Amino acid sequence: MTDAIFPVSDEWAKNALIDDATYLEKYQRSIDDPDGFWREEAQRIDWIEPFHTVKDTSYDKDDFHITWFEGGTLNIAANALDRHLAKRGDQIAIIWEPDDPSEEGRTLTYRELHAEVCRFANVLKANRVNKGDRVTIYLPMVPEAAIAMLACARIGAVHSVVFAGFSPDALAGRIEDCQSNIVLTADEGLRGGKPIPLKANVDAACEKVSVDTVIVLKRTGADVPVIAGRDVDWAEAMAASSEDCPPEVMDAEDPLFILYTSGSTGKPKGVLHTTGGYAVWTSMTQEYVFDYQPKADGSMPVYWCAADVGWVTGHSYVVYAPLFNGATQVMFEGVPNYPDHSRFWNVIDKHQVEIFYAAPTALRALMREGDEYVTKTSRKSLRLLGSVGEPINPEAWDWYHRVVGERRCPIVDTWWQTETGAAMITPMPGATALKPGSATRPMFGVKPAILDPEKGTVLEGATQGALVITDSWPGQMRTVYGDHERFFDTYFSQYPGYYFTGDGCRRDEDNYYWITGRIDDVINVSGHRMGTAEVESALVAHELVSEAAVVGMPHDIKGQGIYAYVTTNAGVEDSEELRAELVKWVRKEIGPIATPDVLQFAPGLPKTRSGKIMRRILRKIAENDTSNLGDISTLADPGVVDDLVANRGS
Ligand code: WTA
Repeated sequence: MTDAIFPVSDEWAKNALIDDATYLEKYQRSIDDPDGFWREEAQRIDWIEPFHTVKDTSYDKDDFHITWFEGGTLNIAANALDRHLAKRGDQIAIIWEPDDPSEEGRTLTYRELHAEVCRFANVLKANRVNKGDRVTIYLPMVPEAAIAMLACARIGAVHSVVFAGFSPDALAGRIEDCQSNIVLTADEGLRGGKPIPLKANVDAACEKVSVDTVIVLKRTGADVPVIAGRDVDWAEAMAASSEDCPPEVMDAEDPLFILYTSGSTGKPKGVLHTTGGYAVWTSMTQEYVFDYQPKADGSMPVYWCAADVGWVTGHSYVVYAPLFNGATQVMFEGVPNYPDHSRFWNVIDKHQVEIFYAAPTALRALMREGDEYVTKTSRKSLRLLGSVGEPINPEAWDWYHRVVGERRCPIVDTWWQTETGAAMITPMPGATALKPGSATRPMFGVKPAILDPEKGTVLEGATQGALVITDSWPGQMRTVYGDHERFFDTYFSQYPGYYFTGDGCRRDEDNYYWITGRIDDVINVSGHRMGTAEVESALVAHELVSEAAVVGMPHDIKGQGIYAYVTTNAGVEDSEELRAELVKWVRKEIGPIATPDVLQFAPGLPKTRSGKIMRRILRKIAENDTSNLGDISTLADPGVVDDLVANRGS
C-alpha cells in the first residue's frame, strides 16, 4: 500500500488550473525569481496603495526581520467581501449547517455577509474597540464567528480566537496575554447535541482577568446571567448599528490576528499573522490546492472545510481564503458522529459539496464504524478530498480514497502549521501523482530542507531528518505576541539560518516529502497540538501532585494520546479515585482535548544525576516498547525504571 502511486487522471490534468508541467515551471520560477513571482501573485489582492518592495527578510540573529509587500496598503474584509459585491452580491457565501440536522440552517449571500460585517464592525466601534486593539472571540461554529473576525479586520482590530472547547482558565490566560478588553461569546455552544456553557466559562474566566465588555450572542436561548455595565446583547447592539462602515486602510505588515498554539516549552504562544502576506498566501494556496475555479456555467463549486474557527485551518481555509476567492462554502457547527456516523456524507449530499477538507482523526473514527454509513449516501457531487492536521496513515488514506471518494477523487494531504499560515507541502490535484501518506511536494515559494537533527547539516537526496524551511514565504508568522525574542529562539536558533518546523520528515527518491510527526515535546492529539509542558504544569498545579511528566503514545483514533506519569506528595495514597480526580482536573484546567488517556502513578521518575527527566525512557514505556530502553546507567536511580515498567498503565 505505501508503495502505491495514484497518477493524475487525464481529466484533472486537462481541466485543473495547475498541471504537472505548470507546477514545475511555476515552482522553479518562484525559487529563481521570487520577486517577479510574488509581484504577479500579489495581484490577486486589491491593494489600496501598491507595495514598493516585495520581500525584505533575514533569519540572521543580528539582522532578524520578515517584511513582505512593504509600502502596500489594503483591507482584508474589503478583499473578502466588498470587491465581490458587483459580480457576486447575490451568490451564497456561507451555507451554515447547524449541529442538529432538524434545525433550520442559514445561508448568507456576499451582500448579506457584507452588511452583517459592517454592522458588527460598528458595534465594535461603539464598544470602544480601536485599530490595533485585541478582541477575544470565544464562539461556536456559527456565521457570527466569521462575521466577528471579518469585522475586526475591517476596522483594523486584532482578533484572538480561542477554541470554544477551552476551559475558563485557558481562556483567561489568553485574554491576559494579549491584554484584551473585550470578549465575544454566545450563551451556549452546541456540539453533538450537548450544550457547552460558553457564557458561564467567560464569566469564570473574568473572575481571573477583568474585561470591560462581553458581547453575548443568543445561540440556544439558555438563561444566562447578565452582568450590568459589562454584558451587551449581540442582537440588540446589531439592531442599533448602521450598515455603513468604510474599511480601515491597513499597512501590509499591520497585525491581522493572534492565535495561541502549543509549543514544546512554557505556556501557549500567541502566533501573530499580518495582513498583506497572509492575504496573498492563503488566497493563492486555496486556489491551487483545491483547484478552486468557476465551473463551466460560471458558478462556484461548493467547498467545505470541516475545521473549527478555533484552529488555524478554520482561520485560513474557512474564513479568509475561500472568501478572498469568492467561494460558496459550507460552515458546519456539528461533529462527524451526530446524530449518526453518516453526518458528513449527509451534509455533502444535502449541499452538493464538491470539495471536502477534513482531519485524519475524524476519518479514522468513522472508518471504524463500517462502510455502510458511507455507502448508503450518494456523494456523487464530490470531486476532491483534502486532509490536514496530522499524518494520515495509509489505511485511512485508502479508506478515504476508496470508500468515501469511490476512487474518483484525488486526496490533497496538506502539511502546514499555525505558524506557516497556509499549506506548505501539498499535492495539487491536476499536477501531482499521489502516494498515500505523503504530503508530496512543496508549494510555490517554499524551499524545504532536511537536516541532520544533531549536526544541523543539510542532508541531500533520499533521506530522513529534521524538516526546516530555507527562506521566508509571505504567510509566515511575524512574531510571538509580546515576545519577539521567544519567536527567534523557538524557530530560528536551533538551526541558524533556517525556520525549524518541529517536525521530522523523510524524502524519497522521487523527492516526495513524508512528514513523520513532531520531534519536539509537542504531541498531536486528534490533529490538535498539545504541549507536554502545558499538561505537566496543569497536573503539578494540583495540591496533591509533586511532579509530572507527560509524553505522547500511539492511539488508534487520535493518532497520539496523552500518557502522564504523576508523582504524588509524600503520604498521599495513589488511589483510583485520585486518578479519576486528576484526569478531571486536567480537563478543567485546559479543556477536554487535554484529557490524559493514561495516568500512571510514578513514585520516582527516571532522572539523570543532574536532575533532567529522561523522556526517551518514558516514551518507550508509554509505547510499550520496553525491550530496548537503551542506556539507563546514567540515571541517578536506575531502579525507578523497573517500577515504571512493572506498573505500566493502559
Ligand atoms: C502536523 C495545523 C502530517 C505537524 C494546520 C505540524 C501534519 C502540526 C499535517 C501543526 C500533514 C499538520 N501531515 N502532519 N498533512 N498537517 N501536521 O499548528 O506535526 O495545528 O507541525 O496546524 O500538525 O499543527 P497546527
